[in-house]
Amino acid sequence: MAHRVGTIGGGIFGEMHIRALTQRARLGDIEYVGLADINSELRGARAAEYNIDVFADFNDLLDMASPDAVTIATPDHLHRDMAVACLERGIHVLVEKPMDTDVDGCREMVAAAAESGVMLQVDFMKRHDVYHAELKRIVDSGGIGDIQYGYAWMEDRIEVPMDWLPSWASNSSPAWFVGVHYFDLIRWLVGQDALAVSATGIAQRLKSLGLDTYDSIQAKIIFPGGVSFTVDSAWHIPAGNEAIVNQGIKVVGSDGWMTVDSQDRGARGLVSSIPGAPASMLTPNLGLFKESTEAGVPRYSGYAIDSIESFVTNVAMLERGVADLESLSGAYPSGKDGLEVTKIAVAVHRSVEKGGDLVSLDSL
Ligand SMILES: NC(=O)c1ccc[n+]([C@@H]2O[C@H](COP(=O)([O-])OP(=O)(O)OC[C@H]3O[C@@H](n4cnc5c(N)ncnc54)[C@H](O)[C@@H]3O)[C@@H](O)[C@H]2O)c1
Repeated sequence: MAHRVGTIGGGIFGEMHIRALTQRARLGDIEYVGLADINSELRGARAAEYNIDVFADFNDLLDMASPDAVTIATPDHLHRDMAVACLERGIHVLVEKPMDTDVDGCREMVAAAAESGVMLQVDFMKRHDVYHAELKRIVDSGGIGDIQYGYAWMEDRIEVPMDWLPSWASNSSPAWFVGVHYFDLIRWLVGQDALAVSATGIAQRLKSLGLDTYDSIQAKIIFPGGVSFTVDSAWHIPAGNEAIVNQGIKVVGSDGWMTVDSQDRGARGLVSSIPGAPASMLTPNLGLFKESTEAGVPRYSGYAIDSIESFVTNVAMLERGVADLESLSGAYPSGKDGLEVTKIAVAVHRSVEKGGDLVSLDSL
C-alpha cells in the first residue's frame, strides 16, 4: 500500500519538497496528502500549480490527512515543535537543515523519534551530490590516506538573506544557513564527532541594511587526532557574482588530496535570461537541480531532489519490512548527525561572540 506523505512549509525550498514528492507520487508508491503553510497566497499558488491539498495549520494536515511521513521546510527556528508533534504521533520526519538552532531542541527531537520508533532524517543534501559521494568513497577506501586537514567555502549572494528570507534572516546566519551543509559533510568524511571550535565573524553590511545577522563567519573545527577543517560561510557577496553561491571543499590526507568545486562544474558563459535582455555571466549548477518536461510531464532531477526522495525510499523500506532502523543506520543523515552539526554551529556562534575563543563541544 502506498504510504502517505505531506509537507509543512511550502516556501522557496519547500517547493523542492513538493516537486520531489509529487513526482514520486506519480509512480504510485506514495500518496502526496498535502501541504501546510500559514501563507494563504502561497497555499493558493502551490495548490494551483501542483494540484495538491493545502492546510493553513500543520495540525490539520496531521489530523485530517493522516500522513505516515512528513517533510518539514519551515524557517530554521520553527522546526522543533513541528518535528516533535509529528514524531510523537509516530510519523516519520524529514527535517530541513539545520535540524534546530538549539542543542536541546535537537535532543528533544532525537528522543521523540526513539520513543516512537520512527525515522528522523535531516536534509543534508550535499551527501547526495555525486562528486561528494565519490569523495567519500575515495576517503573510505584509503585513497588519500588519513585525513589531516581541509577547507570548505559556501558564500551566498546578498539577495539570499535580503530578498529570499527577509522575514527570518535575522534569526539565522551564514553559518546556520549554509555553513551547516559543510559541517555535516566534513563530519561524514572524517567519520568522527568534532571536539571544539574557534570562529570569528563580521556583522557589518547586512546590519547596515536592517538585517541583524553576520555577513561572514569563519570557523576552525577540530576533530580527534589534530584533524581540523576551516569553513568559510558568507551571506554578503555582491549582486555581480556570476553564481548565486560560491562553494567547494578541499580535503588533504596523509597520502593525497582531493577538491570538489561544487559551483563551477565547467559550464560557464555570458548569456541573456530572455532574448534581448542584457547579458550577464552565468555558471549553472544543474547538479543541484534541473527542471524539464518529458512526454508532457514535469521532470525534476539533481541532488536536491535525490536527497528528499531518499527519505521516502527509506520510509518505504521500513514500512515494507525490507529494512529496520538499525540496518538503515549510517545510510542517511540521522537525528544524531543533525544534533552534532547543531552543536558545531552553536559553538561557532559562541566562539564568534567571544572573539574567537576555543569552545568545547563537551560543554553543549
Ligand atoms: N537543503 C537545502 O539545501 C536548503 C536550501 C534552502 C533552504 N533550506 C532550509 O529549508 C527551510 C525553509 O527555507 P526556505 O528558504 O524555503 O524559507 P521560506 O521562508 O521561503 O519558506 C518557509 C515557509 O514556511 C512557512 N511557515 C512559517 N511558519 C509556518 C507555520 N507555523 N506552519 C506552516 N508553515 C509555516 C512560511 O509561510 C514559508 O512559506 C529552512 O530551514 C532552510 O534553512 C534548505
